[in-house]
Amino acid sequence: MITLKNTLYYLVGLIFMMLNKVRHEIEGYKTPRPFSVKQYHRCIDYDFSVVDIWLNEMKNLASPSFSLEGKNILELGPGAELGVGLILLAKGAGKYNALDVNFLVKKVPAEFYDNLFQEIKKRIPAADIHDLKFQLQSFYEDKNKRLNYIYDKKFSFSQLKLEKIDLVFSHAAFEHFNDIEKTFEQLSQIVKKDGYLLSVIDFQTHTRWIREKDPLNIYRYSDKLYHVLSFKGSPNRLRPYDYVNFLEKFGWGDIKFLPINQLSREEVGFAKPYLYGRFSTCSDIDVLSGVLFARKCS
Ligand SMILES: C[S@@+](CC[C@H](N)C(=O)[O-])C[C@H]1O[C@@H](n2cnc3c(N)ncnc32)[C@H](O)[C@@H]1O
Repeated sequence: MITLKNTLYYLVGLIFMMLNKVRHEIEGYKTPRPFSVKQYHRCIDYDFSVVDIWLNEMKNLASPSFSLEGKNILELGPGAELGVGLILLAKGAGKYNALDVNFLVKKVPAEFYDNLFQEIKKRIPAADIHDLKFQLQSFYEDKNKRLNYIYDKKFSFSQLKLEKIDLVFSHAAFEHFNDIEKTFEQLSQIVKKDGYLLSVIDFQTHTRWIREKDPLNIYRYSDKLYHVLSFKGSPNRLRPYDYVNFLEKFGWGDIKFLPINQLSREEVGFAKPYLYGRFSTCSDIDVLSGVLFARKCS
């Protein structure tokens, strides 16, 4: 029965990957979240919750007195809109930079930002809404002020090389990066000494229905097969220790990985023997999501 179920998940996952590849070839990368940017309140709550997670984790992992005040921030893979950047500025950040390989923020309805500004007014009474509107307008006019969004198909950090970054944040994006070694190498050149990296990483299968039923589905396939069915943005199948190793390689310190969601022993026991090669012996395969944290030492 267990073998049959695992075989079924393998086959169903394969079909979904093929369909996803075709869909991606036709439509490109369009929906970074399982809901539309037109669901304004849902998006705004999501953005506030992402910022809250980062700030709580910074207090927990860096210092209880951690503050955003005046910080130069870089977000990698910001997704569908600039809500997170505007909330960070509203909370006192000096500058918000973002880098993405997909220009997803190009066509955000003005109503989204109208609703966001109203919500910021309510939740952060000290925020300077007039200035936030000016920053958004400057972004649309391509004038790089304190809301600096960079779209680069090659995910090159070259337009950021003059920035001295205090904080690197990311949410549900690292697992999509093609060349994490190059990403950390480039990051290491622009982050200040004693600057921090904090990234929430989603390690589980992204395909919607399978994600719930078989969260380790992506780890069932051989490297060759997975590569053939991959497209720009497919999960890279790196595990927590891979990220830790790369950070160590580039001289980062205080490296910590904290799991957020984990499978139970029974759930791991069900799928693990049927995973591909190295994943079937991987010691942290139970981790479905977690926080990666590090400090730049030099
Ligand atoms: C799942 S979305 C997460 C977006 C946002 N942080 C959130 O929490 O909603 C993944 C993000 O990674 C970006 N991304 C996808 N593939 C990438 C790649 N190969 N290299 C760099 N970024 C990528 C997407 O454009 C998107 O912004």
